[in-house]
Amino acid sequence: MTPVADKEKLTPPKAGALDVLKVTDSRTGKEYELAIENGTVRATDFKRIRAGADDVGLMVYDPAFLNTAACKSAITYLDGEKGILRYRGYPIEELAEHCRYLEVAYLLLHGELPNLPEHEEWTRQITYHTMLHESIKKFMDGFAYDAHPMGILVATVGALSTFYPDAREIHDPELRRLQIHRLVAKMPTLAAFAFRHSRGLPYAYPDNDLSYTENFLSMMFKMTEVKYRPNPVLAKALEVLFILHADHEQNCSTSVMRAIGSAHADPFSSVAGACAALYGPLHGGANEAVLKMLAEIGSKDRVPAFLKEVKAGHGEKRLMGFGHRIYKNYDPRARIIKKIADEVFDATAKNPLLDVALELERIALQDEYFVERKLYPNVDFYSGIIYQAMGFPTSMFTVLFAIARTMGWMVQWEEMLHDPEQKIARPRQVYMGPAERRLFPLEQRKASSDQLTPCNWKPGQKTLGAA
Ligand code: CMC
Repeated sequence: MTPVADKEKLTPPKAGALDVLKVTDSRTGKEYELAIENGTVRATDFKRIRAGADDVGLMVYDPAFLNTAACKSAITYLDGEKGILRYRGYPIEELAEHCRYLEVAYLLLHGELPNLPEHEEWTRQITYHTMLHESIKKFMDGFAYDAHPMGILVATVGALSTFYPDAREIHDPELRRLQIHRLVAKMPTLAAFAFRHSRGLPYAYPDNDLSYTENFLSMMFKMTEVKYRPNPVLAKALEVLFILHADHEQNCSTSVMRAIGSAHADPFSSVAGACAALYGPLHGGANEAVLKMLAEIGSKDRVPAFLKEVKAGHGEKRLMGFGHRIYKNYDPRARIIKKIADEVFDATAKNPLLDVALELERIALQDEYFVERKLYPNVDFYSGIIYQAMGFPTSMFTVLFAIARTMGWMVQWEEMLHDPEQKIARPRQVYMGPAERRLFPLEQRKASSDQLTPCNWKPGQKTLGAA
C-alpha cells in the first residue's frame, strides 16, 4: 500500500451515490472518506486505514453480526421496528390469508407467484419426489427408540447426499433445481418417518393424491385406514404455519446454510448444518422450549412468580418465545398465529396452556423489564400451543419449522451461489492469546497451573486484564 494520503477517498462513490462517511484517524490525524451505498459502508474499506507501514489495517469488530450485512438479497424484507415481513414484496399477512404453502414456496424460488398451470406443474414436481430410498428406513431403524426426531432429521437429511451424488454438481442449474425439488419434497417424509420411528409405528408412505400438508398429516397420523382423510381445518392451519416459517432472511440457520454452501458443499449436507443450527433453543428449538416452560408454570396464578424469576435471572433464565434480534415490535407472524389459534381450537379441544400463555403475554407487555428491552412474543410463542392441539408431540415442533424453512434455505443458497460478490465465508478475529513463547521439552515443564500465563484475557472480559 502506498503511504496514506492526508485525505484519502476509499471506494470512489458511484455516479448517483455521492454520500460519504468522513472519518479521522486519531492515531495519524489523517482523514478518510468512505462511500455510503445502500445505507452501508464496505468493511474492506477500513482495511486501508493504517496507523503505519506495519499495520495490517483497521478491522470491523462485530461479534454475532449485530450490525453486519453479509450479503445483498432480494428475497425477504423485514422491518423489525415496524413489525413488517414481506416475501418478494408481498406482505406476510396477505400470503397467509390467500395462498397455500407450495404457492409461497414457488414465489420464494421464482420471485413471482405461479399462475394455475405453473402451480400444477410445480405441485407435480414436488409430489413426484416425496418417496425416500428404502435404505433410509434401515438407517432410521438404527436410532434409539427415544431419539429426538430433530437429531434424526439432521442425520438423515445429511445422509441423503450419499444417495444423490449428483448433488455435488452445484454449478449445474438443472441439477441444482432437481435437488431443490427433492429436498422440499422429502423433508416431510423424513420428518414423519422420524416420528413413526419414535413411536414404534410402521412408516406410512406418501399419498400423492393429497396436498403438501395433507400428505404430511397422513404420513404422521395414518393408522389402519386405507385412506387417511385429514381434518381440513388442521391442514389449512398447517399451510399458514408453514408459510409463516418459510423464510426469515439472514437468521442463524440461514447464515449457516449460506456459510456451508459458500464452501461449495452439496445442498443436503448444507441443509443438515442449517437444521443443526435450527435445533438450538435460542432459534427454532424455542417452540419446544415454550411448551416445556408453559407446562412448568402450569396455571395462570403462577405467572407473576415465574416472571419474577426471569427478571432476577438477568438473562440466565429467559421467557422463551419472547424477544428477537430484529423485531423490536410485535412479531407479525405471532399476530397471525394468535388469530388462527381459535379456528384450530374449534376443531380440536382447546389447549389449556393457552390461558397461561395469554396471561404471560398480558403481564410481560406491561412490565418495565420487557418494555424497556422491547421484548415481544415471537413466532414460537403461540405456534407450539397450536401444534400440540393438532396432536404433534413437542419434540416434533422444531421439525415442523425445519420442513417449512427448507424452501428459504434453498433459495438463499441459490442466491448466494449466483452472487458474484460472494466467496467462501471466512470472518476475521482479534487475537487476544499469548505472544510467541518458548517451548520446553515435556520432562522440563512445570505443572500447567504453575506456568506463567502471559495473557489473562478470558471470554467475557471487555479488555485485556480487566475484571
Ligand atoms: N427473556 C428474558 N430476557 C430476555 C429475553 C427473554 N426471552 N430475550 C432477551 N432478553 C434480555 C437479555 O437478557 C438482555 O438483557 P440485558 O440488556 O439486561 O443484558 C436483553 O434482553 C437483550 O438480549 P440479547 O440476548 O442481547 O438479545 P439477542 O438479540 O442477542 O437475542 C434472542 C435474541 C431471540 C436469542 C433472545 O431474545 C432470546 O433468547 N429469546 C428467547 C428464545 C426465543 O424465543 N427464540 C426464538 C426466536 S424467533 C424464532 C427464530 O427465528 O428462531
